[in-house]
Amino acid sequence: MRLLFIGDILGRAGRAVLLEHLPNLRRRWKLDFVVVNGENAAGGFGITEAICEDFLGVGADAITLGNHAFDQREALVFIERQPRLIRPANYPPGTPGRGANLIEAENGAKVLVVNMMGRVFMDALDDPFARIDHELTACPLGLVCDAAIVDFHAEATSEKQAFGHYIDGRVSLSVGTHTHVPTADARILSGGTGFITEVGMTGDYESVIGMDKEEPIRRFIRKLPSSRFEPAMGAATLCGVAVETGADGLARKIAPVRIGGRLAPTEPDFWK
Ligand SMILES: [Fe+2]
Ligand SMILES: [Fe+2]
Repeated sequence: MRLLFIGDILGRAGRAVLLEHLPNLRRRWKLDFVVVNGENAAGGFGITEAICEDFLGVGADAITLGNHAFDQREALVFIERQPRLIRPANYPPGTPGRGANLIEAENGAKVLVVNMMGRVFMDALDDPFARIDHELTACPLGLVCDAAIVDFHAEATSEKQAFGHYIDGRVSLSVGTHTHVPTADARILSGGTGFITEVGMTGDYESVIGMDKEEPIRRFIRKLPSSRFEPAMGAATLCGVAVETGADGLARKIAPVRIGGRLAPTEPDFWK
């Protein structure tokens, strides 16, 4: 299968580059399944139902979230009726929505999508390692699902790499999100899982992790907030990772994707 994961869509600039390019990419690369992280899609904080529908309408098959999952209060309600919107699985029992779902691709294949949050320098949620065992045991790759994509939303590179190795051989792709700056280590782990420590945001990189740079700089200097964080509005770079899987559901090829904006462009050479 041909899979594409796109990192945190940051505000209007991020949404614009996604809406502009995803329909073309889907067609040009003959993509079977696309996952988009939407935790920063609405003004940098959370996601609305209208934005969620927009993303699904231009070719996303599933949308993952993170620590900003419920910043827009309406998400607490509409997530219950949107099976393609996935929030971190290790929130406490009773949290609205679902942390994993088996979603049918256009070609009929079944794809497990899981969202999980790390705990280093983040909220102390349930143990992500125990939780992923539970999810993967319930839906083993090659038996119940044809591909499995795990979005590990975490701050520490160490935790992101440890988590990737922990699920190596059990999923098609373990992709890191949340820190918003892509790492240069996209590769296939020894057990066959595609991996990147951090896929990077889809937003304007002339910013501080997607936000207009003035207020973050002021806060570092003066230690007092003087205005709200606003998403940077310049041209955004779409950041993602492209993966091709084999018959066993494990990764055969992986490459970073960067389109538009200020980062050096790159595309997979194996789908030309
Ligand atoms: Fe984010
Ligand atoms: Fe985040």
